[in-house]
Amino acid sequence: MEIDLSEIGMHKGQQYEIIITSIDKEGNSNAAPFGLRVLENDEIFLRIFDGGMTIQNIKDKREFIVNVTDDPLMFTLSSIDTIPEKHLSKTSKTKSNNELPFLTNADAYFICEVKELKSIYRENDPIKDTGINFIKGKVVELNIKNKCVKPLNRAIHALIESLVNYSRINIVDDETQHEFLNRFLESERIVKRVGNSEEKEAIQILREDLLSQGFELEKK
Ligand SMILES: Cc1cc2nc3c(=O)[nH]c(=O)nc-3n(C[C@H](O)[C@H](O)[C@H](O)COP(=O)(O)O)c2cc1C
Repeated sequence: MEIDLSEIGMHKGQQYEIIITSIDKEGNSNAAPFGLRVLENDEIFLRIFDGGMTIQNIKDKREFIVNVTDDPLMFTLSSIDTIPEKHLSKTSKTKSNNELPFLTNADAYFICEVKELKSIYRENDPIKDTGINFIKGKVVELNIKNKCVKPLNRAIHALIESLVNYSRINIVDDETQHEFLNRFLESERIVKRVGNSEEKEAIQILREDLLSQGFELEKK
């Protein structure tokens, strides 16, 4: 059967936040969160700065696992360090003879093989003096453990925060109002960058309403 990431709610052109699990040359597991863009039903794109273990493991092993989860602890543990072995399971041997780790409680996970890896150095990137790697991965095996799986997307969270602030904007003091408007601009930036068409439409409706109420939406 053909692999189709839309089965787990991951759609072409959209970005999601996921956790990558991988192994180093000695077989030690590592986990870290990343943003992923869907290119095709079975193809994904990653943009990873140099210096971390994940990118080193991807370069060395040419395969890795993408875990789809909304578990706050897994995101936090993997951001600060890695995820303890007790939360990980291993796949059976892949084509390249690796047993790759995945999050035992992930709602879905998929094995990716590196299709293309380009490394460049860009001076204008926010993280200066660091190489950046553009990786195209081919999904070779998709495992769905929870049929209700819903990949994390930053846009909906940014939008909901904006709506909460919106609902209070007329009852807070001037300083807080100013803070809310700045936060709106940041949320709008996120939604425009990684949101789907409904999220983009929603933030535009919110912008127009704020403007019609006389609020200024320019950073001072
Ligand atoms: C939600 C989230 C998304 C992230 N996305 C990326 C990304 O797309 N590219 C990147 O280079 N780092 C990204 N990071 C930062 C890496 O997770 C971080 O550098 C991590 O320490 C790398 O760990 P590693 O050394 O185990 O690979 C992200 C962090 C979080 C919390």
